[in-house]
Amino acid sequence: MTWDFEEVLAYYRETLGHEDDARRVAWRSRFDQELRFENLLEAIDLEGIEMFSVLDVGCGLGDLFGYLQRTGREVDYLGVDVVPEMIEEARLRHPEGRFEVRDVLTEPGFGRRFDLVLCSGGLTVRVERHERFVRQMLGRMLELCELAVAVNFQSTRAWGARAGAALNDADPLYHADPLAIYAVCRQLCRWTVLREDMLATDFTVTMTPGHSRSLSRYRRLPSPPPEAVGVGWLLLERRLPIQALEALDGEAPTAEVLNLRGMAWHQIGELKTAQGFYRRALERDGGYAPAMVNLETVSARLEGELGGQVEGEGRAAAELGDDADGAPVQAGELLDDGQAKADAAFFELKVPR
Ligand SMILES: C[S@@+](CC[C@H](N)C(=O)[O-])C[C@H]1O[C@@H](n2cnc3c(N)ncnc32)[C@H](O)[C@@H]1O
Repeated sequence: MTWDFEEVLAYYRETLGHEDDARRVAWRSRFDQELRFENLLEAIDLEGIEMFSVLDVGCGLGDLFGYLQRTGREVDYLGVDVVPEMIEEARLRHPEGRFEVRDVLTEPGFGRRFDLVLCSGGLTVRVERHERFVRQMLGRMLELCELAVAVNFQSTRAWGARAGAALNDADPLYHADPLAIYAVCRQLCRWTVLREDMLATDFTVTMTPGHSRSLSRYRRLPSPPPEAVGVGWLLLERRLPIQALEALDGEAPTAEVLNLRGMAWHQIGELKTAQGFYRRALERDGGYAPAMVNLETVSARLEGELGGQVEGEGRAAAELGDDADGAPVQAGELLDDGQAKADAAFFELKVPR
């Protein structure tokens, strides 16, 4: 389904008639507007990042771009909006910025991702089937982000507001339930934060698949230096294998470090390299528990090829070692292509003792 944004166009064509700049984009004051910008930027730890890219969804008159410049942030910025008048004026005000009339849902052609995808007030004017629209927008913004998405909403917890409803019939604003939006984001991304600590009218959600604020801040502390192994686990949980390998660079090859390297290569998709590291981890410590986690990962991957039920670590090994009658077979016999045989040999090596 596509949206025609009739309501959005009508609403903002009216607000554009105001004299006050903040009110032209439907904010109460410049202060509120900029507080929201700062709040969105808090999604990641910007300290030490010299240059970052931003996609500003619903950029209005380009005020976020102006704010970033004024506050000394160097950005590779693209602002998009569905209201052409907004974009025309944003271009005039900020000739050095990049602004385009675009509907992020229907336009596949960004051809890139952005460190930050930010949306301040872009999902507040009610459109037809608004919940569905919001869900799709959040999913799309997540696809377009490298590090984080941050979006604010008008809240049902604002005084007098009702879920999804206007305060009165003439009010075209959509008030969202913070917990409902949190649930949607949490389904889309494990690394979700709900914040209601800025303005009583608002809440903000951030999804940070590619960034951990606490890790970033902890790393800057003078001492102790973060343990590479802990950092490696955290990054692998976030499926950031390249960064995990970087964090482990130069670490002594303990079983855990070898295992983590195996997991990183596994996430990258280099199964043979991964196996080499897993094998070395097991050679170093045959009963090494975390290495068995990898058995599960590999099992899941092989499940389709084996056509069997592979559940959990211990059983996976047992299933590989038994044929339908329960007689032991070589795992390698179950498979016929070279790569799969290598995987199977690796399984044999990892049968729990
Ligand atoms: C409240 S204004 C805020 C503008 C700007 N983000 C700021 O804070 O100054 C919201 C903006 O989102 C735009 N907008 C609304 N729905 C949108 C959508 N589906 N896609 C892109 N822009 C949208 C509107 O045209 C408007 O310019």
